[in-house]
Amino acid sequence: MPVGSIPVLLIEDTPSLARVYAEFLKKDSHTVIAVETGAEAMEQLKDGAPKVVLLDLQLPDMNGMEVLRRIAAQALPCAVIVITAHGSVNAAVEAMRYGAYDFLVKPFSADRLVITVRNAVERLRLAQIVDTFGKELGRGRYHGFIGSSLTMQAVYRIVDSAASSRATVFITGESGTGKEVCAEAIHRQSQRAAKPFVAINCGAIPKDLMESEIFGHMKGSFTGAVADREGAAARADGGTLFLDEICELAPDLQTKLLRFIQTGTYTPVGGSKLEKVDLRIVCATNRDPLREVEEGRFREDLYYRLHVIPIHLPPLREREDDVLDIARHYLAEFAAEEHKGFTQFSPEAEQTLRHYHWPGNVRQLQNVVRIVAVLHDGDTVRLDMLPAPLGLPGAVPVPPTALALPPPGPAAPAPRLPAPLTPETIKPLWEVEKDAIEDAITACDGNIPRAAALLQISASTIYRKRLAWQAEGKL
Ligand SMILES: Nc1ncnc2c1ncn2[C@@H]1O[C@H](COP(=O)(O)OP(=O)(O)OP(=O)(O)O)[C@@H](O)[C@H]1O
Ligand SMILES: [Mg+2]
Repeated sequence: MPVGSIPVLLIEDTPSLARVYAEFLKKDSHTVIAVETGAEAMEQLKDGAPKVVLLDLQLPDMNGMEVLRRIAAQALPCAVIVITAHGSVNAAVEAMRYGAYDFLVKPFSADRLVITVRNAVERLRLAQIVDTFGKELGRGRYHGFIGSSLTMQAVYRIVDSAASSRATVFITGESGTGKEVCAEAIHRQSQRAAKPFVAINCGAIPKDLMESEIFGHMKGSFTGAVADREGAAARADGGTLFLDEICELAPDLQTKLLRFIQTGTYTPVGGSKLEKVDLRIVCATNRDPLREVEEGRFREDLYYRLHVIPIHLPPLREREDDVLDIARHYLAEFAAEEHKGFTQFSPEAEQTLRHYHWPGNVRQLQNVVRIVAVLHDGDTVRLDMLPAPLGLPGAVPVPPTALALPPPGPAAPAPRLPAPLTPETIKPLWEVEKDAIEDAITACDGNIPRAAALLQISASTIYRKRLAWQAEGKL
């Protein structure tokens, strides 16, 4: 950035002095904005753009120190040079403590002024470069993601550049790698962020309800359609439609989705009028979509329509030390929820977390940290507190569904009709409860927090109950 593109904001209430300073600075190719009061200065700083600020400490409406304090409080990207009267060096020292970059004691030479301002501009320029580098290379947080590994930085960059387009994004990745987090990041990073993000899980909705779920239905179009109902496509108008587990979509719906993508229009179930919406489609799967195409389960033409911007989420084991950053984040969160005092992991526990292969990825890591927070107490998580197979031999095992999630079946199982009860078929209450919980976890693909939310109990309750059933040999 050439000198001169960072402006100098001159705050000096003596017009003759202001004129002289401005002249020297303009000769050195700086752009100068001159104001006389603290209030005017704050107005100029409102845009948040980087500026070198030349600040006289004695202003008519406020003490210059107050301007400095506000700049620091709002973390404005400014380098402040304080101008003090001869003999008030103490004030200058105090100003430096408040974050001023340098000070000039009146009277000062033109050279001294020009060199001090040049240095301040250079410092701001470097700070901006570091900031941009940091944003581009070292983002440790990005929307719902935690992680600064190179593999995740690449994901953040694709989301950045894909967000503004309307092109369909196809997210792949093992279970628990954050595909839903990614879909939301795309939406929130886009200009559609203020409009709805509507997610539909193609694997969780019974086949015969799916069309109505996406496209809506008219009253009376099928048994149970007691009123007109908007589908996800209509609700997502202006925003983003997230089709999760897209490979589970039945063949006839694949055809309807293809037509919708080609024309941008659809007809609700039982309707006759074509509806038009403006939405962006993001879809995800933990299967290998090309294999689904090759084996005839997924339409090739639909695959190519959807697979415009591919994003692959790397498994957790390929994300360097992200494991520790994520583990620490969830340790703080779950310890607070469970009223426990954990603040850190021991070096041995960290080493184990780092080297484990995490087949269930981030969700499994969440589950491990949750179990520790539920079952133990202290300020440091020791190796023996980690559940098996991570911890010491004999440690409490992580429930298997939390570890390796079974691959999702080709279609959702048909809902079971409850058989009429006879005295012989009455089950003990604990078993009814256990079945309800286990069924919910299976329906949520092993996602215990989601199952807990749907059952309206806390995830810790599920963990506690499962551990108790395990201890009693009931699981
Ligand atoms: N990088 C990350 N940092 C912090 N939390 C994450 C990260 N990635 C995922 N999570 C969390 O892990 C859990 C699983 O993420 P998500 O549901 O997005 O995974 P998924 O790939 O969609 O899994 P599935 O294939 O089972 O549907 C969520 O609770 C999510 O908030
Ligand atoms: Mg998911």
